[in-house]
Amino acid sequence: MNFNSLSILPLHHYPEYLKPCCDLINAEWPRSETARMMSLQASCDSLPTSFILVNDKCVIGHCKLTPIPSIPESCFIETVVISKSLRGKKLGSFLMNKMEDYGRDVLKLKMMHLSTKGQENFYAKLGYELCPPVSIYGTCVNSMFKKSEEESSETVKYVPQNAETSGFAPPPPPPPMPKAPDINGSNQKNCIKSTKTFMFKYL
Ligand SMILES: CC(C)(COP(=O)(O)OP(=O)(O)OC[C@H]1O[C@@H](n2cnc3c(N)ncnc32)[C@H](O)[C@@H]1OP(=O)(O)O)[C@@H](O)C(=O)NCCC(=O)NCCS
Repeated sequence: MNFNSLSILPLHHYPEYLKPCCDLINAEWPRSETARMMSLQASCDSLPTSFILVNDKCVIGHCKLTPIPSIPESCFIETVVISKSLRGKKLGSFLMNKMEDYGRDVLKLKMMHLSTKGQENFYAKLGYELCPPVSIYGTCVNSMFKKSEEESSETVKYVPQNAETSGFAPPPPPPPMPKAPDINGSNQKNCIKSTKTFMFKYL
């Protein structure tokens, strides 16, 4: 494999590769084409971003970077896959290394997180270490006043109102976060249960 002929492209700028990318991922993790395409079409310049590894106009790899609201200095790398016939040729390592460069140099991140079930050794060879589970769901304080990508690319300015001068009472505080269900029937605070192995790496 000539690594110089490989390209790593943000999928949303290359719609012609959407379907081949969908097929590549679905060959590994079968899912409805509609659902998969919708997920891939969410790719954008800010996160989440799907990247494809392309050789000679063929999609031979994919991965997706997703924000972690509770850890803004990190992102989650998921759906890492290399075309079945091309595994074991260091393409997965190449893709991961390029994503780490992108995370550090473009996104200015300090870490990268992931979860896996079965590929722990592959990631360990790349320097990833075990860590507690993280959730990619929820919102961080800074994003609470932003519209979603679909609504607008502009940040909504939040101007706190003085209740006395505006005549309006301040908005009520947000409701408490729902507690994670516990198999023993009780709730354990800040505990995410998962059968996957979570790993991270400092960039
Ligand atoms: C996991 C995957 C992306 C690795 O890509 P790849 O191109 O085959 O990996 P590389 O050739 O870069 O391998 C790098 C090293 O990791 C090792 N490695 C790769 N997969 C491994 C595995 N499953 N278990 C143990 N070691 C593994 C390789 O032997 C190689 O070791 P070496 O440096 O000592 O020679 C690829 O196998 C794949 O697409 N798997 C199916 C999808 C998947 O499970 N993705 C991960 C989701 S968490």
